[in-house]
Amino acid sequence: MRALVTGATGFVGQRLLALLQQPVVLSRDGARAEMELAKFGVKAFSWNPTQKRPPAEAFTGVDAVFHLAGDSVASGRWTSAKKVRMRESRIAGTRNLVATLASLPVKPKVLISASAVGYYGDCGDEVLAESATPAGDYLAELCQGWEREALAAEQHGIRVALIRIGIVLGEKGGALSKMLKPFYVGAGAPLGNGKQYMPWIHIQDLVKLMLFAAENDFVHGPLNGVAPSPVTNREFTKSLGRAIRRPTFMPPVPGFMLRLMFGEFGSILLNSQRAIPKAAEQAGFKFDYADLEPALQNIFKK
Ligand SMILES: NC(=O)c1ccc[n+]([C@@H]2O[C@H](COP(=O)([O-])OP(=O)(O)OC[C@H]3O[C@@H](n4cnc5c(N)ncnc54)[C@H](OP(=O)(O)O)[C@@H]3O)[C@@H](O)[C@H]2O)c1
Repeated sequence: MRALVTGATGFVGQRLLALLQQPVVLSRDGARAEMELAKFGVKAFSWNPTQKRPPAEAFTGVDAVFHLAGDSVASGRWTSAKKVRMRESRIAGTRNLVATLASLPVKPKVLISASAVGYYGDCGDEVLAESATPAGDYLAELCQGWEREALAAEQHGIRVALIRIGIVLGEKGGALSKMLKPFYVGAGAPLGNGKQYMPWIHIQDLVKLMLFAAENDFVHGPLNGVAPSPVTNREFTKSLGRAIRRPTFMPPVPGFMLRLMFGEFGSILLNSQRAIPKAAEQAGFKFDYADLEPALQNIFKK
């Protein structure tokens, strides 16, 4: 399988590249990406998702497209300019990508496009399979627009799988690297009342799921990219403290404090999504890390 990856320089992208043979990548700075990702033997092309369509020549001989590019949701304050960037990098970006795919005389067979569990909004204890109703907040609407643009590739005979990704756990980057600081100084604590469900996934399982979706013709539509055992924020806090051998006795961080510290993103940290990977499991995907404690032990084993 010859693959093309967008957002390949990111946390998930680099882990995915390690599983691919001589991938092509699209980056806002192709020259920088080719240097940074040299160990993966990539060929890189420049593409700014919001500004134009990607170059058709990048897709020569490509069977599978993995689309991960998008402005970071978890870093930086959500100013109105930032919200436009997060949205447009995904919605206009995916529209531009699909416009090139549609124009190709020989098209890739499959598009695996990232989405997020933010699609579901804040759902308390409700168990969320892929058929659950989407919410109406900013992030949920962003995810719906992002998915709609990706699904448009089906009209051009391209199979589309949408991976609604949860909190990705892995070494050196992603959500864990942001969470760890207070834990290392003994200040790890639940957020809000700690009852919100956190749908997490080990990065190794996520990239394996993406490949599984690419390789199996019967897989299409949305798949929750989450482990089968979501935990509450309180349970997550305890498990993370145990994994790095630090206490978690501090009182919970109240919601208003999170909003003061992180602005609108602070509220997202309190959203509850008890998402389960129903579609992936029905398709026969097997998780290496179905439970949180072994996943964290693996990540912090060194
Ligand atoms: N990590 C998670 O926990 C998580 C959870 C849910 C969903 N997701 C989604 O999964 C995808 C991959 O996640 P990730 O953690 O690997 O993301 P990441 O580390 O932030 O990388 C995303 C990549 O997108 C490109 N990018 C950044 N800002 C951009 C902008 N303003 N316009 C266009 N492209 C931009 C960059 O590639 P270049 O610099 O090479 O262009 C960057 O390396 C993202 O779309 C993310 O929203 C991730």
